[in-house]
Amino acid sequence: MHFLPADTGSIGALRSAAAGCRACHLYQQATQTVFGEGPVPADIMMVGEQPGDIEDRQGHPFVGPAGRLLDKALAEAGLDRSQVYLTNAVKHFKHTTTADSKRRIHAKPNQTEITACLPWLESELGVVRPKLVVVLGSTAAQTLAGREFKVTKSRGKVMPWRDIKLLATVHPSSVLRATDRHEAYEGLVEDLKKVASSLARRR
Ligand code: URA
Repeated sequence: MHFLPADTGSIGALRSAAAGCRACHLYQQATQTVFGEGPVPADIMMVGEQPGDIEDRQGHPFVGPAGRLLDKALAEAGLDRSQVYLTNAVKHFKHTTTADSKRRIHAKPNQTEITACLPWLESELGVVRPKLVVVLGSTAAQTLAGREFKVTKSRGKVMPWRDIKLLATVHPSSVLRATDRHEAYEGLVEDLKKVASSLARRR
């Protein structure tokens, strides 16, 4: 991909280059590229779908309502956001606008957009060198574990992936939309506890 920097081993170089990415059309409607953030290297890398409205305005991943819910679930599972590298499969906010132009509504990225953005995610994996990748929701899960992957079937299991491990769980936004929010939230926390215990066993 010709937007990648010469030095793909530096997170700073990757972040700067991603700011100017035009590999798909999504940059046209977004405020900015929202690149991953967190310690480098990091034992845990978490991958969401794409930045939301607030992330797009502020330029940081998971800083809106879904991010706040994720922070709370992480803490309850015995993990700290500061130890996690957080990123998204797609780095620009894809949305539609309401008829009165007042609200921007999240739109799911398609395969072309996900594929165009993949070199950034692969580069992040190369630099962050996580021991465990947590995929949040089906877009991230299918981006990294294959189009057939079903989060509903395989969530909460630490599984071998490449030469490290992967765990899939639901996206925190789906918890916010769930009919039984409490149950959905507890399910997310339970899955995240497996991340904490899997890493504790390695030490
Ligand atoms: N949802 C995501 O998948 N990522 C974010 O950064 C925010 C909301």
